[in-house]
Amino acid sequence: MIKQAKVRATAHTNIALIKYWGKADVSLNIPTTSSLSMTLDKFYTTTELSFDASGQDRLILNGEGTDATRVKGFLDLVRQKTGQDFPGLLIDSQNHVPTAAGLASSASSFAALTGALVRLLDLPENDREMSRIARIGSGSASRSIFGNFAIWNKGHDDASSYAEPFYDEDIGLSMIVAEISQKEKKMSSTRGMQLAQKAPSYGAWVEKSARQLKEMKSAVQAHDIEQIGLIAQDNALGMHEQNRLCPEPFDYFIDETRQVLAFTEACYRSGLLAFATMDAGPNVKIITDKASETELLARFKNEFPNMAFEIAHAGGGLSYD
Ligand code: DP6
Repeated sequence: MIKQAKVRATAHTNIALIKYWGKADVSLNIPTTSSLSMTLDKFYTTTELSFDASGQDRLILNGEGTDATRVKGFLDLVRQKTGQDFPGLLIDSQNHVPTAAGLASSASSFAALTGALVRLLDLPENDREMSRIARIGSGSASRSIFGNFAIWNKGHDDASSYAEPFYDEDIGLSMIVAEISQKEKKMSSTRGMQLAQKAPSYGAWVEKSARQLKEMKSAVQAHDIEQIGLIAQDNALGMHEQNRLCPEPFDYFIDETRQVLAFTEACYRSGLLAFATMDAGPNVKIITDKASETELLARFKNEFPNMAFEIAHAGGGLSYD
């Protein structure tokens, strides 16, 4: 039964502190590792969903008609899985995330779309179910249903692979996002992780990731930002290492990336809390705490006067208006 003609949902992006970088099942996005993330307040997607008069699925992104192939593939899978053959949808999304530059706009996009879809179709608004549906759109979207810290349990099939809240409290962690490049990334995360999985050292990274997840859980519960930063940095650099070591090597790092990473380390050595994490793009997210963010940001702005920086904190989960 159709409850409403139009639904608006908002979801925030999230940054993984323990990364998802590999799929055990490509079509369902079942990952090779469990991952842990913090949802951010600053970057989000708002999606307005309604039925489209044309009967086709259509996507409007930031006011412009856009290729709907990926979203259509997702909606068709949802039609199949829910057994609901709903007609074509008009997806009107505003993305407050620099799209495709490694800030994971797919996470907030598919989480917002899932939230809107569930309400539009009058499906049960169950967080676990929504996380599973969002996962099919984009793995990282499974975590964006939730605020603060979430864990995506890798599971082994569609039913067992979903995210859930881990620690629903703002522990004072700050992320300074260094916007090194807003250009469309060269290598999608979907393709990048499939290549990286072929690295001879990939199995060792997966094993280490399981140990790091345990350590990260304790560090978050202890509000220990230094430990969080050290583990997250090692996990992320290890992920990028697989990209360079696989049979068809590639690299998201550019010169400015390396400069920002080196400066982050110099700041840490000088006694400030500063650690780096990176996703499928050249941008660096610098992990620090609220007490250090002003001084650290000033140092970065001074060192990189032409670079844009934004500070993000913990954000909330899926919401409607
Ligand atoms: C590096 O969720 O974008 O940001 O499931 O293929 O859509 P697909 O991949 P995606 O990958 C995100 C990878 C990452 C790490 C992470 O967010 O855990």
